Amino acid sequence: MTEPFTVAIDGPAAAGKGTISKAVAERFGFAHLDTGLLYRAVGAKMLLGVEPIEAAQTLKAEDLQAPDLRSAEVAEAASKVAVIPEVRAALVDFQCAFARRAGGAVLDGRDIGTVICPEAEVKLFVTASPEVRAHRRYLELMAKGADTTEDAVLADVVARDARDRERATAPLRAAADAVFLDTSHMDIDSAVEAAARAIEAKRGER
Ligand code: DC
Repeated sequence: MTEPFTVAIDGPAAAGKGTISKAVAERFGFAHLDTGLLYRAVGAKMLLGVEPIEAAQTLKAEDLQAPDLRSAEVAEAASKVAVIPEVRAALVDFQCAFARRAGGAVLDGRDIGTVICPEAEVKLFVTASPEVRAHRRYLELMAKGADTTEDAVLADVVARDARDRERATAPLRAAADAVFLDTSHMDIDSAVEAAARAIEAKRGER
């Protein structure tokens, strides 16, 4: 496939978007962009004292490879810089160009189906209950040797959800034509299969 084909995958933190996105990108041979990394890279720069709008406007591809972008501290900073309209605006062109590259692309984030790629061929909204998401994130953090409690992780998840959903610019919400995927009671293989079926259905129409 040489023409663009965009898969937009949105949803709250730890719903399974990242794992699903990676798996379907690999299965269909599409490029994958975790757009949260853009906001994390800007958040990481802010923690180093760089003004967030300037950090977004001067962001380079290699900034997405910074080693500590997955930490809870950077996630918190990312969620804060993501409310700044100028930060979001500075990151639009990069995401749009990625989405329309030849050969297909999967972008996961919060506003891909609503703002960045409203014309995406496939839109998925991946959710799970806050408790399930906090439990998954807690296990990930434990595996990395982090020192935290499940209650603390749940409080972070709830606070980050509220900030992502309530911000004025590009809040987290499902596109009107998104396919919902609630992964609360699904294992990862079933969730990937459900996403792949939604993509296959659209590809079959072309
Ligand atoms: O998906 P993530 O946890 O890496 O995202 C980190 C933060 O970035 C999250 O709190 C919200 C923000 N974000 C956003 O506002 N828009 C996106 N498309 C992706 C992430």
